[in-house]
Amino acid sequence: MAVASDFVVVSNRLPVDRTDDETEPWRRSPGGLVTAVDPVMRRNAGAWVGWPGQPDVTVEPFDFDGLRLVPVTLSRDDVQLYYEGFSNDTIWPLYHDVIAAPTYHRAWWDAYVRVNRRFAEAASEVAADNATVWVHDYQLQLVPQMLRELRPDVTIGYFHHIPFPAYGIYAQLPWRKQVLEGLLGADVIGFQRVADAGNFARAVRRQLGYDTKAGSIAVPTADGGTRTAIAKAYPISIDASVYEELARRPDIRARAAEIRESLGNPKAILLGVDRLDYTKGIGHRLKAYGELLTDGRLSVHDVTLVQVASPSRERVQTYMQLRDEIELAVGRINGDADELGTTAIQYLHHSYPREEMVALYLAADVMLVTALRDGMNLVAKEYVASRVDGGGALVLSEFTGAADELTQAISVNPHDIAGLKDAIMQAIEMPQKERDRRMRALRRRVRENDVARWSQRFLTDLDSARRSRS
Ligand code: G6P
Repeated sequence: MAVASDFVVVSNRLPVDRTDDETEPWRRSPGGLVTAVDPVMRRNAGAWVGWPGQPDVTVEPFDFDGLRLVPVTLSRDDVQLYYEGFSNDTIWPLYHDVIAAPTYHRAWWDAYVRVNRRFAEAASEVAADNATVWVHDYQLQLVPQMLRELRPDVTIGYFHHIPFPAYGIYAQLPWRKQVLEGLLGADVIGFQRVADAGNFARAVRRQLGYDTKAGSIAVPTADGGTRTAIAKAYPISIDASVYEELARRPDIRARAAEIRESLGNPKAILLGVDRLDYTKGIGHRLKAYGELLTDGRLSVHDVTLVQVASPSRERVQTYMQLRDEIELAVGRINGDADELGTTAIQYLHHSYPREEMVALYLAADVMLVTALRDGMNLVAKEYVASRVDGGGALVLSEFTGAADELTQAISVNPHDIAGLKDAIMQAIEMPQKERDRRMRALRRRVRENDVARWSQRFLTDLDSARRSRS
C-alpha cells in the first residue's frame, strides 16, 4: 500500500530522466519546476505523479533524492495519440495562435481522455485525506475535474504554462466545452499573463454561460449551488540565484572566454537558445540576420550567431518539417556568407547542461528571443540572471509572456523583418552605459520575481481556497 501524501504534483513528465546507466538509472532533470516546489514537497512528504518519458515503462513508485515519484505508464499508442497527437499536434498549435495548423482527430481526443483519467486515478490513489494536488500544463487539462469527481475532499490547483488563446481561436476546438469543464475542476487556475486569464474567462462565459468577475468564476455544483474557481495570472520565473552563482564561478567564466576564443573573438556574438519548435521564430531570426549580412550592415568577420536548437518532439511531422527548413536556411546563409575560417552561424542541434548554457550566456553580447508566441520564455530570464557582469543586451519578442515583465529589453515584433534587423543593430551598437542601465533594471526584476515567489503566490491562493472550503 503506497504512503499517502499531503502534497501531490501531477505533470506529464516526471522531474527525472531515465538513463542508460544501470548503476544510475534515473537522473534529476534540471527543470525549474522541481526547484520551485522542492521546499513544499519536503515539508509535506510530497509525491510527484508523471510519465517516465519512454513508452511501456512500468515502474513501482520509488523515492529519489528525497522525492516520492509515482510513474504513470504510457503505451506506444498512448504516446502517439495522447502525447504526440492531441497534446502536441492539436492543443499546442491551437493555443499558440495556430502558427501551425492544428489537427483534429477523434481518436486522439479519446486517448487524451483515457490518459488524463489514468493520471487522475494515480493522483487520487496517492493523495492523503484533504491533500493539496497541483496539476501542470496543457497535456492534463481534464485531470482537475476527473480528480474532483474521484476525490471531492482534495484541494486542486492547475497551472497552465503555455498561452491560452483568444476566444475566436479557442472556439475551433471540437471539444472546447469539455476542456473548459475539465479545467474548472480546479479551485485555482493559474496562467502566465493577465491576457491568458482573460481569454479563459471569456471562453467560459461564451461556452458555458457561467458568471465570471475579476478572476472569480461561479461554477455550478451538483446540489444546485455554486462554488468559486479562481482564474488569475502568476508569471513563472527561474531560480535567479542559481544562475548568478554559476555565472560567478571562475571555471564557467573561463569557459565563456574559451567560447569567444574558439569563435575567433568576433566583435559581437549573437545567441539564440530554443527548443526546435515553430513557435520560437527561429526562421524569422535567421532571415533578419542573413539579410543584415547580404546588405553589408554586418560582416562575418565581425559577428557570429550561435544558435542552440535542442531536439524536441521529433516524431511529430510539423517538427520534422521545421528542422528541414531551419537546417536548409542555416546551410544557405553559411554557404553565402562564410569565407574560409569564418562562421556566420554556428548551429548546434543538442541540449547542454546548465553550466555550459551559463558560459554561453556570458559569452554572448546579444541574446535573440524572437518567439512568435510563447507562454513565458525562461531563456530570456536565464540570460538576464546570468549577466552578473552587467553586460549583454536582450532582444525580446513582444509575443512572449516575459515581455510583460522585461520592459527594459529591446522589444520586437518578429514578423516585422525590417524592424527585427534594426533591433539587432541597435543591440549590437548600444553604448555601454545604456547596456548597463537596461541590464541592471532587467536583473532587478528577475531577482524580485523569482520562481520561489511564483510558487508561493500560487500556493497561498490555493491554501485560501482550501480554508474557504472547510
Ligand atoms: C513546454 C511545455 C512543457 C513541456 C516542455 C518540453 O515548456 O510547457 O509542458 O514539458 O515544453 O516539451 P516535451 O514535449 O518534451 O515535454
